[in-house]
Amino acid sequence: MILITGGAGYIGSHCAINFLNAGYELVIFDNLVNGRIETVNSLKKIGNVKFIQGDLKNAEEINNVFKENKIDAVIHFAGYLEVEESVKNPAKYYQNNIIGTLNLLDGMIKNNVKHIVFSSTCAVYGEAKYTPIDENHPKNPVNPYGKTKLIIEKILEDYDNAYGIKSICLRYFNAAGADSLSRIGECHEPEIHLIPNIIKSIFKKERTFKIFGTDYDTPDGTCIRDYINVEDLAQAHHLAYLFLKENNKSDCFNLGTEKGSSVKEVFNTAENVTGEKINYEITQRRAGDPAILYADTTKAKKLLNWKCEKSLEESIKSAYNWEKSQF
Ligand code: UFG
Repeated sequence: MILITGGAGYIGSHCAINFLNAGYELVIFDNLVNGRIETVNSLKKIGNVKFIQGDLKNAEEINNVFKENKIDAVIHFAGYLEVEESVKNPAKYYQNNIIGTLNLLDGMIKNNVKHIVFSSTCAVYGEAKYTPIDENHPKNPVNPYGKTKLIIEKILEDYDNAYGIKSICLRYFNAAGADSLSRIGECHEPEIHLIPNIIKSIFKKERTFKIFGTDYDTPDGTCIRDYINVEDLAQAHHLAYLFLKENNKSDCFNLGTEKGSSVKEVFNTAENVTGEKINYEITQRRAGDPAILYADTTKAKKLLNWKCEKSLEESIKSAYNWEKSQF
């Protein structure tokens, strides 16, 4: 069985579908702070899922999961993820993300589970010194969220040396889109991300989508990001799990499309793909947004045999279909 922490959340649940489609049995451990019970119910219709509502901050709870289930490997998503909130309330991020992971790793050590795929982020790099960003780019996260992820990566290195726990850290750029069959999708409260905010403005006419800044040093003045489809990300987790089984070796990989898209380009693509006219206004920059981030994924392509299959259009279309299915 595979344990997915945070499996009721956005990327975790799409990863769960990928494993379920391949016939694996899953244990999903989630405190339902960001995850949703509706998502768990959708997953249960697809395959063999045991859901445990619990919190990684409680060491005994997670240790019991290992004691009571035959876990072969862990895919670890559970964690808080809002950059801005992490700046205002770093204690919440350090306590939850770091202590939660330490408890999880303790459970692995005690119960002899040796493989973990960790949901990391391109935020570990901080401001881009060059683009595309490869795995050797300097790591200087500029907010507590990114720092917690980098600290966990370092903990994993030490736990490999000392306890033989092998880990794959996957540093995603901007996850986008939803399940192609609209069974699950992206749902944060409040919503902070670009694509769901654009789509929500279609369905809630009282909302106006805001472009955060048009004075960046980019061709159209808006920030450039690398929007990687969530099903492509899910597949990467599966390949990372297989890599661990085959090679028993720790490593880290960037995951992105290798193509940057500006906020305006994403907005225009959304209008084209959905055929909708979307209200928008231009506001000031959002604090802490770097101008340009996109990935070099040569390493994942070569060693994981992974490739990004879906376009920005497909991501936006699936996000739109999912949002539509919610009404
Ligand atoms: N943006 C808008 N309007 C919105 C939302 C976003 O203009 O309503 C802009 C942002 O300013 C940014 C771009 O769209 O330029 C993307 O913003 P997101 O919030 O969708 O994503 P981020 O790039 O800020 O954050 C993502 C992940 C984080 C991760 C970070 C790493 O969500 O978890 O990438 O840089 F830490």
